[in-house]
Amino acid sequence: MTKDKVLIILKSSGDYVSGESMSRELGVSRAAVNSAVKALRQEGYEISSVTNRGYMLCSSPDRLSQGEIEKALPAGRGETVKFLETVDSTNNYLKNKAGDGSLPDGYTVVADHQTGGRGRRGRSFSSPPGCGVYLSMLIRPDSAPGDTAGITAWVAVAVCDAIEKTCGIRPGIKWINDIIMGRRKVAGILTELSVEGESGHIQYIVIGIGINTNQRESDFPPELSEIAGSVAMAAGKSIDRGRLAGELINSLDRMRRGWPHEKERYLAAYRRDCVTIGKEVLLVRNGEQKKAFAKDIDDDFSLIAELPDGSLETVFTGEVSVRGLYGYV
Ligand code: BTN
Repeated sequence: MTKDKVLIILKSSGDYVSGESMSRELGVSRAAVNSAVKALRQEGYEISSVTNRGYMLCSSPDRLSQGEIEKALPAGRGETVKFLETVDSTNNYLKNKAGDGSLPDGYTVVADHQTGGRGRRGRSFSSPPGCGVYLSMLIRPDSAPGDTAGITAWVAVAVCDAIEKTCGIRPGIKWINDIIMGRRKVAGILTELSVEGESGHIQYIVIGIGINTNQRESDFPPELSEIAGSVAMAAGKSIDRGRLAGELINSLDRMRRGWPHEKERYLAAYRRDCVTIGKEVLLVRNGEQKKAFAKDIDDDFSLIAELPDGSLETVFTGEVSVRGLYGYV
């Protein structure tokens, strides 16, 4: 859309740009540039216009849009990124369309608002408009399901990379895939896999990531107030959601290119970022709770826990509460 392209030009210039040069660059009429500027102003962008100099972007609202996301992406990448104002769940959106094979590897959908955001274990994921980044990426790795067991841990590292690049602070990871800042959960990951019945091969994986970005403490419902935080709360400043979404796509693309040969890098980063290691934990499985000490992460991203009798247990799945973090104090 011309509006998104005009926004990209104004944002990357930081100075006055003439209407004529934009119409030439975009191959559209001057009238189309004028209407794009008008539409952007209606969305809350402050754009000054000066005769003989053109237009300059003075301030942007905290708005997520195709143009805001594409600004952080390499040229052409935006063609396989779709922005939606509202959707039930970005994971559902991709799962409904992925089966016929028409969407390419890396196709991504980003929403400003989810009406039915889903979390792990059948929970819901609160996804109000105007403050978060809700993103799903489709990947089609040429592997058997067993080979992709660590993918969620790789994604957790990619999320930390994107948040660090955007706000300068590296989050921690609570095993296996909660992203933590200031002792609170700021992002979650839901990875869903479809397997071909006959060959047992992976048909596709949908990687879903929800990041609480610009919420303030008072924006969370009382039941989440001790648990949930946002990147802005941790960084002490508001975050450009378009940039964050773009950097997330970039770091997931890097992960896709590195899969599976860059395992050492992702394993080392995961071990460094994992806040669970060295802490007292509660292993929760089948309604049973067991106290343990989190010793290490093994080469398959499983947690190695030491039980009170000194025996070691390798934990692949299940809930693990960490002493000192939300839910287990
Ligand atoms: C969790 O913490 O339990 C996982 C939360 C995953 C939420 C994201 S938001 C984008 C994508 N769409 C969904 O419905 N869920 C994931």
